[in-house]
Amino acid sequence: MTLLKTTNLSHRFDYPLFEAISLELKAGESVAIVGVSGSGKSTLLHVLSSLLKPNSGDVELFGKNIYALSEKELVKLRRHDLGLIYQSHYLFKGFSAYENLEVAALLAGETIENELLVRLGIQQVMEQKVTELSGGQQQRVSIARILSKKPRLIFADEPTGNLDHATATEVMDLFLEYIQEHQSGLLLVTHDEVLAHRCDHVYRMLDGTLSEIV
Ligand SMILES: Nc1ncnc2c1ncn2[C@@H]1O[C@H](COP(=O)(O)OP(=O)(O)OP(=O)(O)O)[C@@H](O)[C@H]1O
Ligand SMILES: [Mg+2]
Repeated sequence: MTLLKTTNLSHRFDYPLFEAISLELKAGESVAIVGVSGSGKSTLLHVLSSLLKPNSGDVELFGKNIYALSEKELVKLRRHDLGLIYQSHYLFKGFSAYENLEVAALLAGETIENELLVRLGIQQVMEQKVTELSGGQQQRVSIARILSKKPRLIFADEPTGNLDHATATEVMDLFLEYIQEHQSGLLLVTHDEVLAHRCDHVYRMLDGTLSEIV
């Protein structure tokens, strides 16, 4: 089953950023995108994950053209089917780590698995306010929050940017096991080439185009 499909995608701000990008992601598959800072990786992820309408080209998620959906249908899609992990973490600042997970799980009709917290090494900090956590702890809480929603497709922008090597490896193990087990998909943006190459396909964003690295 195809989870994500896009053909001839182009986007420009006041200058062209990328052009004629085509990409497909099937259930159980992982794709990594690498490229230098400023090459347009985050923007592409925003376009593919329903947050930014491209200038031309369609994005199909689960067989639906997302930019033809109503705002209500989009909200539902994001709430139930998409797991979005961005470079800056959108946690509710006044709340504890646990409350942040609880809200996401409740909205998606899922429960929080203790094993996930243990594997991410955050079970000891769940009662603390997110503003009291380190950058890496906040990042791990964001990951736990997303996986607790049981998404069909995960978009992760530098999810291991603040983590040490061992923790980053554990996060990658979790993602890959999760998508296998749930026949979900992972679209990962990373500067870490070693992590990237654990994905089924690796693409490089360069001069506005995406090419597969073999
Ligand atoms: N909303 C916007 N309006 C105008 N220009 C933008 C906007 N968002 C991003 N850009 C520009 O588009 C280019 C690509 O940005 P983007 O964030 O996609 O890069 P990136 O590959 O994710 O970089 P990094 O590795 O540093 O995260 C940058 O030059 C950035 O300034
Ligand atoms: Mg970026």
